[in-house]
Amino acid sequence: MNELDTLVEAARSAFAAAKTPAELENAKAQFLGKTGSITALMKGMAALSVEQKKSQGAAINLVKQGIEAALAERRQQLADVELDLQLRAEALDVSLPGRKRVPGGLHPVSRTMERIEAIFSSMGFDVADGPEIESDWHSFTSLNNPPNHPARSMQDTFYVDIEGEDGTPYNLRPHTSPMQVRYAHQHIKKHAAAFEAAAADSSGTLKAPEIRVIAPGRTYRVDSDATHSPMFHQCEGLWLGENVSFKDLKVVFTDFCRTFFETDDLVLRFRPSFFPFTEPSAEIDIQFQSGPLADRWLEVAGSGQVHPKVVRNMGLDPERYIGFAFGMGPDRLTMLRYGVNDLRLFFDGDLRFLSQFQ
Ligand code: PHE
Repeated sequence: MNELDTLVEAARSAFAAAKTPAELENAKAQFLGKTGSITALMKGMAALSVEQKKSQGAAINLVKQGIEAALAERRQQLADVELDLQLRAEALDVSLPGRKRVPGGLHPVSRTMERIEAIFSSMGFDVADGPEIESDWHSFTSLNNPPNHPARSMQDTFYVDIEGEDGTPYNLRPHTSPMQVRYAHQHIKKHAAAFEAAAADSSGTLKAPEIRVIAPGRTYRVDSDATHSPMFHQCEGLWLGENVSFKDLKVVFTDFCRTFFETDDLVLRFRPSFFPFTEPSAEIDIQFQSGPLADRWLEVAGSGQVHPKVVRNMGLDPERYIGFAFGMGPDRLTMLRYGVNDLRLFFDGDLRFLSQFQ
């Protein structure tokens, strides 16, 4: 074999030794690069005669083609290996069992909330949402419960390490009642023209626009046992107008309870009570006339006629606006509806318990 023939063989084995595309490019340079063997052979032809140039040139070209062919072949091999590795790495094991997706469902308390919203919406109540971190003014003072008033100790409030503009700390709202004044302000602002027109009408022929809302949500108190959780739910109700009376409260709340529990076999009792923001005030108890809970009085809400000071804090004239408010416990309603006797079960997140309600 002459020098030219061995060159193709040398290239072939150098290419075979290259294990990666980068190594292959290095090997290629030894033969086809600027300082490679083929280039050197070409340069060497300068000294040859025309005849010799012809035959030597043809021979070198053949060798060059041989090396290029070997290079292309090795490139393809390396590309195949790489593709193969990639396919293996990305392979799906179709014999693995699939991951099970368990159908989710609504929490029983969420179901109650939805029921409450649906029932009150059907009675023309708006549904409002408000902050859980509340100012002292909204949670207490605006509700006729000034600083140092003993009624503040009715609620063991959590305070937050942030001070409001008036220097008092924010609180985790201990009830949804701050939504009374908060919503009234929003609502009056939104319908300012109607409220102003009614207020300016001294003849009293323009009927004053009403405020009719429920505000469900989370509330917080330092309290924990079978029937109290530091986080619990409340739903506030408020109906203010020119002629909204305690009778309306009785009708609305009785209707609500009968619809919620899907029975007319149920009576209500309004038991005198005290709240700073209502006067008179009443606890609402219900009693089923049949079934497992029959003959027991069960407390479901606090209520009363909205105190004139609260009406004034809403920016309304208590001589003109009168109405009622109530605050009920959706957690308690859920316990009664499903016959659950420990409130903590609702917040433990145990699916063995929760999935029973789906
Ligand atoms: N906010 C009172 C409570 O948490 C309930 C209530 C609301 C009472 C509205 C009267 C009117 O106990």
